[in-house]
Amino acid sequence: MKIIRAKDYNDMSRKAANIISAQIIMKPHCVLGLATGSTPIGIYEQLVEWYKKGDLDFSEVTTLNLDEYKGIARENEQSYYFFMNEKLFSKVNINPKRTFLPDGMEPDSGKACADYNRIIEAAGGVDLQLLGLGHNGHIGFNEPGMAFEAQTHCVNLTESTMKANQRFFASADEVPKQAYTMGIKTIMQAKKILVVVSGEDKAAIVKEAFLGTITPKIQASVLQLHNDVTLVADEAALSLI
Ligand code: GLP
Repeated sequence: MKIIRAKDYNDMSRKAANIISAQIIMKPHCVLGLATGSTPIGIYEQLVEWYKKGDLDFSEVTTLNLDEYKGIARENEQSYYFFMNEKLFSKVNINPKRTFLPDGMEPDSGKACADYNRIIEAAGGVDLQLLGLGHNGHIGFNEPGMAFEAQTHCVNLTESTMKANQRFFASADEVPKQAYTMGIKTIMQAKKILVVVSGEDKAAIVKEAFLGTITPKIQASVLQLHNDVTLVADEAALSLI
């Protein structure tokens, strides 16, 4: 694993955005695996800025997002679709028909997951997968458990994840309890993986995930088995390693 040390959040965002833009320049018709959460926001802002300057062209890019809440409509401000549209898709020249997320409004989990697996397969695999890191080591919404789930599946979110996400909702009752997420096998099949982490509150999990035992209890630890992972993290997040 390559570890790139950034000074702070802005530096992390610019360095990671540079890696993504290099991917788009090298392969204009690439497939990007995208992530939500607060960590990638600075990256998307930087990419939009470079697009506006004329340095980036998204016209041939396909995107596959990691996850979506179950039972939340696209129009809902808390949906990951809304997030992606607001932060990136509506601000660059990407073809909306080539932007994909699991369908949170499909109540049949089996169908929602099978449909998304088919979309991933049709896209031909991910060239560069962007990942954030949950405080409990989750990637996408692959929560700590007894196994690594291979493909898209429906997860029951852990108490700690629901608590972490509560800040985005008006009340605790509104926080979704389930989500559809890409599986670990799909993530591990990406040609390149870019993990971004910021802040002292993630320092302990960074150490555990990337230097500790490989275990489904810390889902991100599986990334130690991938041969092209770049971790871009700020000094605070790297303070324990
Ligand atoms: C959510 C997302 C993850 C994300 C994680 C960390 O649960 N499903 O993809 O990486 O939160 O979020 P943040 O970057 O806000 O700490």
